[in-house]
Amino acid sequence: MIAGRFITMEGGEGVGKTTNITYIQSLLKEQNIQVLLTREPGGTALAESIRQLLLDKEQEAIAEQTELLMMFAARAQHIKHVIQPALEQGIWVLCDRFTDATYAYQGGGRNIALSTIQWLENFVQADLRPDLTLLLDAPIQLGMQRAQQRGKLDRFESEKMAFFAKVREAYLSIAEQQPQRVKIIDATQSLACVQNQIKQTLAPFMYE
Ligand code: TMP
Repeated sequence: MIAGRFITMEGGEGVGKTTNITYIQSLLKEQNIQVLLTREPGGTALAESIRQLLLDKEQEAIAEQTELLMMFAARAQHIKHVIQPALEQGIWVLCDRFTDATYAYQGGGRNIALSTIQWLENFVQADLRPDLTLLLDAPIQLGMQRAQQRGKLDRFESEKMAFFAKVREAYLSIAEQQPQRVKIIDATQSLACVQNQIKQTLAPFMYE
């Protein structure tokens, strides 16, 4: 059995990940590719509970080390119970955020050493890495405007602009270092234009 592909979607707040990941799902289904849509933090009952704790801003302050470990605790559950079994069955996995988000938010945003994140990445994931990552990129002001229009801000969305600037910078630096895997999509364009960029990026990958 051919293993499924592992595709992740990344980006700052309010860049349109949810709309566009649903679009990718429909593109894959059109090609009769079996696909599983999931997200991080989350994707299993326990990991979704960890997500709620991470996003809730009404509780005690979460230490940055705790935050990092909770991300990887959720990820370990998600990989073992959802991602790995699907890939082994030949199902493609489409994941809304993965470890690049940890490098961007906990590494870039919270200044945690990359070597610490790398160690946890190797420990939790062994050799599992995304085959393709789409990075939806937009200036932070634009994304935050969209996030604010969605309603009440969660614990991450309530961070200061300087935090989001570091997150964006970290994402762009990953894309620069790994251009084969990480493709930047300009999310400032109209939805039709963004989806056209996504379709073109996926085309060689789908028919390979
Ligand atoms: P979402 O609302 O975009 O689905 O993601 C939830 C929040 O979690 C988002 O603000 C980014 C943050 N996050 C991290 O800080 N580190 C991570 O590793 C992941 C997966 C998400």
